[in-house]
Amino acid sequence: MKEKNEELKAKEALAMLGGGQKQIDKQHERGKLSARERIDQLVDPGSFMEIEMFVTHQTTKFGMEKEKYYGDGVVAGSGKIAGRQVYLYSQDFTVMGGSLGKAHASKICHVMDLAIKTGAPIIGLIDSGGARIQEGLGQYGSIFFRNTQASGIVPQFCLILGPCAGGAVYSPALCDFVFMVDGISKMHITGPNVIKAVTGEEITAEELGGAKVHSQKSGVAHLVAKSEQECFEQVKKLLSFLPSNYQGVPPEPTSVDDPDRLTEEIEGIIPDSPQRAYDMKRIIRQVADHNDFFEIQEDFAKNILIGFIRLNGMSVGVIANQPMVSAGSLDIDASDKSARFIRFCDAFNIPILNLVDCPGYLPGKQQEYGGIIRHGAKTLYAYCEAVVPRVSVIVRKIYGGAMSGMAVSKLVGTDFTIALTTAEIAIMGPEAAANIIFKDEIAQAEDPKAMRIQKINEYRQKFANPYMAAEEGWIDAIIEPKVLRSYLIAAFDRLKGKVELRPGKRHGTIPL
Ligand code: HXC
Repeated sequence: MKEKNEELKAKEALAMLGGGQKQIDKQHERGKLSARERIDQLVDPGSFMEIEMFVTHQTTKFGMEKEKYYGDGVVAGSGKIAGRQVYLYSQDFTVMGGSLGKAHASKICHVMDLAIKTGAPIIGLIDSGGARIQEGLGQYGSIFFRNTQASGIVPQFCLILGPCAGGAVYSPALCDFVFMVDGISKMHITGPNVIKAVTGEEITAEELGGAKVHSQKSGVAHLVAKSEQECFEQVKKLLSFLPSNYQGVPPEPTSVDDPDRLTEEIEGIIPDSPQRAYDMKRIIRQVADHNDFFEIQEDFAKNILIGFIRLNGMSVGVIANQPMVSAGSLDIDASDKSARFIRFCDAFNIPILNLVDCPGYLPGKQQEYGGIIRHGAKTLYAYCEAVVPRVSVIVRKIYGGAMSGMAVSKLVGTDFTIALTTAEIAIMGPEAAANIIFKDEIAQAEDPKAMRIQKINEYRQKFANPYMAAEEGWIDAIIEPKVLRSYLIAAFDRLKGKVELRPGKRHGTIPL
């Protein structure tokens, strides 16, 4: 018996080494943790339960029978994060560069299947050279298929902790949240060598697919960390805002932040002049429990802000215009960013708060040619589809089309529309409106310039308040900025039992 147990221990010790100590040292020299060190740092101590530790590939091509390692380049299983179950896999770069062969893929599929069946989030730790070249055609399809089946059932996170090239990029792209680490994550479909061969362009892997590229330009990455440790902390924090699956509700820790705390600073943040910008993040923080705003996609489409806060412990998804960037107008990237976030919140029972200060859609040829009509429609669709509790707050201006584009209007399914006393609501901006409705008066005036300014001011005075819109029934309540936090807590509390059923169908045809 003793020998049998010793045999197991010896085999386990071998499996723990992946591609061997030399390769682990190399991994450390690259500035990366090993697959197992990553899991240790991510999950609660002692909670990891491994599956298929002794799996090896069965390929004999290219002398591969001599290149067998227990686990086949991926460590898979389940663990707990803050006591909640997650399923995860961590690719082991020390074994053939974490490349994905049949056995490797089948292990990933196994944990994904278990996650779907048990309703637990899936976390993939990616560090891989892509499809294993010696094993022929890649196995990614089986993972893409499961990513899609898991979509809207359990939250899916992908942490890019090394290379992620070729077909490998599409599993993260199908996930809900992509995390990258500055300096070590690289994501691209075709690498620098292929690009050079095909187009002659010379570019480094970092310039092509580093964390900065995907967090600032492509919008692929949702969160960027300076180190792997920071990335794991981000994962834990994000998870704390989410339910484990679509039938659950997010954890609701007891808040020690007074629900009736006055948000007096908001009045000082919103400038008197409608032309002056301010930082909407300061307002979000004012309202949030402990002034904590967990922002997502911070560096992409900065004219719109998305992220999570808690209101008296309740997890809430926030979508807000950022007046400091393009005056908070809506454009192509902002539409993509908000639409996806709205659908995520709706899929996972997370109430939605809109904080609105929006002059409308960004005008221009670039936007029209790029398809702002098509992209803007995604946001409208997402709002009209969402059935979670929804509250919109008009912080300052809202003109015309943005009434729907920022879901201010009840017509697109918003439950409560609140205006601060600072709100300015009109069909279009005063400058544009005056040009149209006072066209003749301006043209016939002795001093058309002065008349135009007078008419703009007249229009603004008429609409630079929320009362006309309230009279027309657009607004449920007008409140002072200092009671915004307590009002929102009460509003979401009133919406707690909300049920809104829609006709059954296979799925809608969102204009992607
Ligand atoms: C088999 C691989 C591999 C792969 C790396 N290795 N990628 N083995 N299949 N795809 C092996 C290397 O041979 C090496 O083995 C070890 O992993 C470490 O790799 P290095 O190149 O030494 O490391 P590094 O310099 O850090 O470069 C990492 C890398 C590079 C950038 C990932 O290895 C690389 O470019 N690999 C190929 C990437 C790629 O083109 N993948 C696409 C595959 S096709 P030794 O024994 O020397 O330690 C694909 C299409 C799927 O994915 C389509 C699905 C829709």
